[in-house]
Amino acid sequence: MSNETIVIIDFGSQYGQLIARRVRELNVYSIIKQPSVKIEELQKIENLKGIILSGGPASVYAPNAPTTDPKIFELGVPILGICYGMQWGCKTLGSKIHKADRREYGRAQVSVADTKDLFAGISDNTTVWMSHGDQAESLSSDFEVLAKTNTCPYAAVRNKRKKFYGMQFHPEVSHTPQGNVMMKNFLYEICNCAGDWQMKDFAEQMIAKIREQAKTGTVICGLSGGVDSAVTAALVHKAIGDRLKCIFVDNGLLRKNEREQVEITFRDQFKIDLHVVDWSKQFLTKLKGVTDPQKKRIIIGHEFIEAFKSEAKKIPDAKYLAQGTLYPDVIESGSKDGNLAANIKLHHNVGGLPKELGFELVEPLRDLFKDEVRLVGEYLGLSEDIVWRHPFPGPGLAVRIIGEITQDRLRVLRDADEILIDEIKVADLYRKVSQTLAVLVPVATVGVMGDERSYDNVIAIRSVDTTDFMTADFSRIPFDVLSLISSRIINEVRGINRVVYDISSKPPATIEWE
Ligand code: XMP
Repeated sequence: MSNETIVIIDFGSQYGQLIARRVRELNVYSIIKQPSVKIEELQKIENLKGIILSGGPASVYAPNAPTTDPKIFELGVPILGICYGMQWGCKTLGSKIHKADRREYGRAQVSVADTKDLFAGISDNTTVWMSHGDQAESLSSDFEVLAKTNTCPYAAVRNKRKKFYGMQFHPEVSHTPQGNVMMKNFLYEICNCAGDWQMKDFAEQMIAKIREQAKTGTVICGLSGGVDSAVTAALVHKAIGDRLKCIFVDNGLLRKNEREQVEITFRDQFKIDLHVVDWSKQFLTKLKGVTDPQKKRIIIGHEFIEAFKSEAKKIPDAKYLAQGTLYPDVIESGSKDGNLAANIKLHHNVGGLPKELGFELVEPLRDLFKDEVRLVGEYLGLSEDIVWRHPFPGPGLAVRIIGEITQDRLRVLRDADEILIDEIKVADLYRKVSQTLAVLVPVATVGVMGDERSYDNVIAIRSVDTTDFMTADFSRIPFDVLSLISSRIINEVRGINRVVYDISSKPPATIEWE
């Protein structure tokens, strides 16, 4: 028997994957389909338990408004429409949608009138996240109202005959604190799911899929030392064994002992065929005198391709490239169809590389969020050190040295970074915070060491708490720990006489300084 399946029809929402993730968290398998999906395809799904219609940016009355086959109401499974999905469902079932003069955006209080199914266990007055222009104006007679707000009389509705439920707000975002209960009610009370899916099923499904995709030939995987590429390599290795060849580029911008750690883990422990390319001279020569962050990224992206190509050329029968692209990478680089998130920083790990090399891509983690990748990593038996490693940017220490990159500045930052991470681990904070880093600010400030005047540089410590790395707050690291880090860095790292702690949130600041 196949897994219980929920189909999410994506009307172009920025939250489509987030809905999928919420369903996964509740132990139900989900797949995302485009509105153009054929009804026959849905009918063929063996254990279809329900359908969720996502939100979307269009108005249901717009000339090219996305639409899906109304026969979904004849499939006999419950359907939940969120925002645009609700409007589309209500309109299709004979209700009127009203074009609002103004978008409603932000938190709202809903008053719940019916707690029979969708809102079982939800308090009468609960906070939800609204983001809509249009809303239902009058409902056809089959509908019942489940909840309302001051400005939205039909904030949630039910059409029992058609098993259709609509929510004008977004239960999938964290700003709707009881959203998970609502999703759970839909899956378990309304769709009668039992919850037969786990992250290990995802790993097994991915392994089977990789085997199916890469039947012959060699798969190359670029390792970075981070959790995403490590999990990708481990999945591919499980799927095709020795036909996987990993490439690790030493760009001269790595943390202390990073290359050695990668060699120990992948070559010695995992017995993966690992090719290390020392391209550090080329990187550092090209970066000489460069101070602009975007220029640094462009140069590093370019050199990375050169280094990778030079090694890949030596590997016979290389057909595929495995990459640890995650869902937020796809969104942040603005490369998801129709979802043009502003390109704040050039991330060279998405795009660029593959086309130029002519490989077919293997991207098993493309639909996952970071914490889900960690669960897959744990299931695959990767060490705690890799699974819980903080993210480290592709351009490495280059974007943590403000201004020009020199050997001496790299030495200073490496030493400071090592102390910082050590102390954060000793204080048992490493797994509690999301990302900790040191930045070398090559501004000279005056200090006094012994009886001598010093005129040295500043290290800024940055540590953030975040779930998605798109927004973040600075971590509340205890002063005692900061004090220890500061005194160790100033005493042990030649060239530093001052340590500061960055207390900016993202936005408006970003996590990295460049
Ligand atoms: P920002 O600085 O944009 O960082 O708030 C968000 C997350 O992305 C990482 N980051 C990068 N990762 N290439 C990468 O692979 C890059 O150019 C890059 N810039 C930032 C950053 O470390 C944080 O986790």
